[in-house]
Amino acid sequence: MIQGANVQRSSPHPAPLVAEVREGLQGSPKKLPPKLFYDAEGARLFERICELPEYYLTRAETEILRERGAQMATLAGPGCTLIEYGSGSGVKSRLLLDRLQRPSGYVPIDVSREQLVRVAAETAANHPGLSVHPVWADYTRPFSLPTLPPEIPRVAAFLGSTIGNFTPLEAADFLRRVARGLGKGGVLLLGVDRRKDPAVLNAAYNDSQGLTAAFNLNLLTRLNREFDADFIESRFRHRAFFDAEASRIEMHLESLVDQRVRVADVRISFEAGETIWTESSYKYDRVRLDQLAAASGFTRSTLWADARDRFWIAGLTVA
Ligand code: AVI
Repeated sequence: MIQGANVQRSSPHPAPLVAEVREGLQGSPKKLPPKLFYDAEGARLFERICELPEYYLTRAETEILRERGAQMATLAGPGCTLIEYGSGSGVKSRLLLDRLQRPSGYVPIDVSREQLVRVAAETAANHPGLSVHPVWADYTRPFSLPTLPPEIPRVAAFLGSTIGNFTPLEAADFLRRVARGLGKGGVLLLGVDRRKDPAVLNAAYNDSQGLTAAFNLNLLTRLNREFDADFIESRFRHRAFFDAEASRIEMHLESLVDQRVRVADVRISFEAGETIWTESSYKYDRVRLDQLAAASGFTRSTLWADARDRFWIAGLTVA
């Protein structure tokens, strides 16, 4: 059953987003927040990226959920409430809820209201007796979780390697908030992409069908439509590369010419070759993962990998 007829309103505010865009483009280097990728077209392109031969992440993580879900359920404990940061299309929660032992509640959190309402309704229909508390929020900013009975074990899921899109400092800040929401002994299932051969990583973000390029460039189309900008897409190109020192893929939009562009009420100048940094995707090894866990109040209980050892789901417990 869905708790409260309405989706809890921790509404994502458009006003700070305009300020974020303006400040990002006026800074040096120029940057845009990756959450801007996911308008309707961006979400559609991302779903197609997840099926690309080069983009192994989603397949590897789904394999782990299928193969190791029962072990995750044991770590989470019977009767737990699942709190999912970024519930998206609901595919992963379905896999998890089917494997958890008599889960009592589900708290999907997502910035897309439409998807959230649909996932909440479908989950409630498929799991009679499960309390579903949807939360409409941009989880990268502070928001309130619904009040949950303190005696019920809590398990959070933050999957899809989305943690990789946070800088290490942002990641630790975010996970500290997750730990606070879970309380001592609470469990987090964290999906992380492993550091690996740069050729494999570079291919995953430079696919041969050009979908990642379209996903990156779609950001400019969105700025034109929603932020009163006048970008000409053909004057930019997609660039993605692995930076070994920082252990991250960087995605950029590179200006092909000297140009000036209007965005909202400001004019932005680009030199040929200058870029807008649109996304970082950090890749983890054990040391970096354990450092992150320790910095945010967790200890690592388990690490599950896919058969080809490309991706991990870490089972972290609040210390
Ligand atoms: C959502 N996120 C984890 C994806 C990633 O791999 O960093 C977004 C993405 N960017 C390019 N391809 C996919």
